[in-house]
Amino acid sequence: MSLGRLNHVGIAVPSLDEGVARYERMFGVTEISEVIELPEQGVRVRFVETPNSQIELLEPMGENSPVAKFLERHPQGGQHHVCFEVPDAHAAKAEFEAKGVRVLSPPRVGAHGTLVIFLHPKDMGGVLTELMEPVARA
Ligand code: CO
Repeated sequence: MSLGRLNHVGIAVPSLDEGVARYERMFGVTEISEVIELPEQGVRVRFVETPNSQIELLEPMGENSPVAKFLERHPQGGQHHVCFEVPDAHAAKAEFEAKGVRVLSPPRVGAHGTLVIFLHPKDMGGVLTELMEPVARA
């Protein structure tokens, strides 16, 4: 399996509104997605468009949100994960497990509407790593 494009960098924020306002104020960014709710993953997200990628701002949703736990350790928020594209999430899961990497859940539908998996940060040099199937591009 080959490593695909860096799709986005995930950044945990205590408040999506404040997170979005910061990118607007600091960089004059105007292209920002609406709120996408992922209750299964305990997050509410918005994507800030950059010329070659996206920033995914993540706000906790619900008490058991992994992002809420992250914010307990980093109250200001901060870099949470990186996401690379892979052609097939199920194949990627099998391949990484065969390499001894813990995959955090079965492939499930992510914020882009395609299948994603997450690799345990302790097996990835401290970096929570998301792998997603790409969105069909025109
Ligand atoms: Co993500």
